[in-house]
Amino acid sequence: MNPHSLVSIADLTKEQILHILDQTRYFEDHQGLKILDGKVVATLFFEPSTRTRLSFETAANRLGARVIGFSDANTTSSSKGETLKDTIKMVSNYVDVIVMRHYLEGAARYATEVTDIPIINAGDGSNQHPSQTILDLYSILKTQGRLEDLTISLVGDLKYGRTVHSLIMAMKYFNPNFNFVACDELRMPEEYKQFCVQNGIKFTEHKDFSADVINSSDIIYMTRVQKERFSDIVEYDRVKDLYSLRNSMLVNSRENLRILHPLPRVNEINCDVDDNPKAYYFQQARNGLFARQAIICNALGIDILDYNNR
Ligand code: CP
Repeated sequence: MNPHSLVSIADLTKEQILHILDQTRYFEDHQGLKILDGKVVATLFFEPSTRTRLSFETAANRLGARVIGFSDANTTSSSKGETLKDTIKMVSNYVDVIVMRHYLEGAARYATEVTDIPIINAGDGSNQHPSQTILDLYSILKTQGRLEDLTISLVGDLKYGRTVHSLIMAMKYFNPNFNFVACDELRMPEEYKQFCVQNGIKFTEHKDFSADVINSSDIIYMTRVQKERFSDIVEYDRVKDLYSLRNSMLVNSRENLRILHPLPRVNEINCDVDDNPKAYYFQQARNGLFARQAIICNALGIDILDYNNR
């Protein structure tokens, strides 16, 4: 495995996470750096994406790299039966780093075992979405001024939502107080609750998205119910609209509250929240550009903070 791969947020130490956040800040403050001239980045998306793919591609392009790849595996030789292993080995012949999203949990880890070039996991099934976590942490840090000792409410699809799974793992370093708000069908899986217990992370489970939860939160992290993970569409229809945030629910919320969402949203945040200064999800997505510049550079062994001191 290439040591610069980013497969799971759990592979990073606290120091490494903080360093990537410093690099992210640097990229936000210094746009237009052409430090990846001559590099080629592949974006292999076996699942749909808007933000992750386009922000990775923009991040690479703005740094001077070239991008190849696909956003629909049906247009590739995967549709003729080529295996993931062969696809990764082929693409490795052409590029310096692979960004990949796949519907199978563990696909990115597997890819690291069949190539020597760095792999960046852009989401594998319901498992991990580490680049999203970096931009989420950056958004929390920017809006709260700290990562420590925050009350964070995760709302919606906590079963299939890989963004919340990754975020919990990263927050183990920062003494969070979590509210997990979900119906029985979409509760936080046992393995992540066990992770919290083992790492001394405080959490409370709720079925109601109550005023008490909202008014005691520093961050509300809404999530979409992941239709594509359901085998039974009737069950999806039953739970899809259970949690929806409206502007009127925020009247007594904390001044510092910020509302995050990895996006895309469906019905879980009403459009009347968009103009509330506490809504931060569109800026959050913008932060992804800078976070992904830091992540691509790290994968290529370039530390922008050292690079500029040379
Ligand atoms: N947040 C996120 O992963 O969005 P996309 O699915 O559009 O990439």
